[in-house]
Amino acid sequence: MDIIEEINRLKKEKNAVILSHYYVDDDVKEVADYTGDSYYLSKVAKETDADIIVLSGVSFMGESAKLLNPEKTVLMPDSHADCPMAHMATVEYIEKVKEKYDDIAIVCYINSTALLKSHSDVCVTSANAVKVVKALPNKNILFIPDENLGRYVASQIPEKNFIFNPGFCPIHKGISAAELAECKKKFPDAEVLTHPECTQDVLALSDFIGSTSGIIKYAGESKAASFIICTECGVLYELRERYPDKTFYTVGLPTCVNMKKVTLEKILDVLKTGKNEIFLDNDLKDKALASLDKMLELAK
Ligand code: 13P
Ligand code: SF4
Repeated sequence: MDIIEEINRLKKEKNAVILSHYYVDDDVKEVADYTGDSYYLSKVAKETDADIIVLSGVSFMGESAKLLNPEKTVLMPDSHADCPMAHMATVEYIEKVKEKYDDIAIVCYINSTALLKSHSDVCVTSANAVKVVKALPNKNILFIPDENLGRYVASQIPEKNFIFNPGFCPIHKGISAAELAECKKKFPDAEVLTHPECTQDVLALSDFIGSTSGIIKYAGESKAASFIICTECGVLYELRERYPDKTFYTVGLPTCVNMKKVTLEKILDVLKTGKNEIFLDNDLKDKALASLDKMLELAK
């Protein structure tokens, strides 16, 4: 029996589902029951009636799945696959900013630890951040941990006052505006589709800004025949599968090493052994879940 057959057999036997983010390796996505952006994966995790969720992605995705569906067993194929940005804010900083404003909402990008979520009022993903922040009654917004997404959201909601935190995604920050400008010269008819974790100078050169799912949807609906994709290279697989007649370029080959830690062998291993299960601190569970639930409510 080959590895894919073995994974599929164990999934059935143990009533498990595999949820994958677009950024994991292509062969891993082949065994996924659901593939999508962080918002989609949260909704699927909350609604699934499988007993086991294998989260092909990074730690914050597994933690979010466990928070949203605590009765389920959530397994991470690689326990070291972690998003560095998730740790780039501190509780001390949140508390310091809170002291300065009476009317402030702490808005936490889902790419964050459960601890940071537990000190926040609401979570957002790149797909729903503008909608969720607009729906908040507060004028003052502390946006953690990603400064680039925060600045993009702020640009869409000028009536609110934003305070930022200096967190960033190393992969998206690494996409250079100068190299993108060169790429645009080479492919002048291509539309530029960009994730909002990119820097402001890259966003300024873009035709569309959105989450990974947003980028995939836009590429399908656009009349353009070619695109420069400014996000992690994993989305290329989906884009080329869905739109074989269109052409996709990237600026370099932005690669998230943490997402790429997930392999078929590791998925098989956790399905067999049940190792790398997610357990969350009882003290922070309820508050962290409240911020995720509030996101799901406001993003509807
Ligand atoms: P999306 O929610 O847009 O898929 O983004 C997740 C992520 O980690 C981006 O770097
Ligand atoms: Fe984190 Fe960036 Fe990797 Fe997304 S691409 S998981 S933000 S390091």
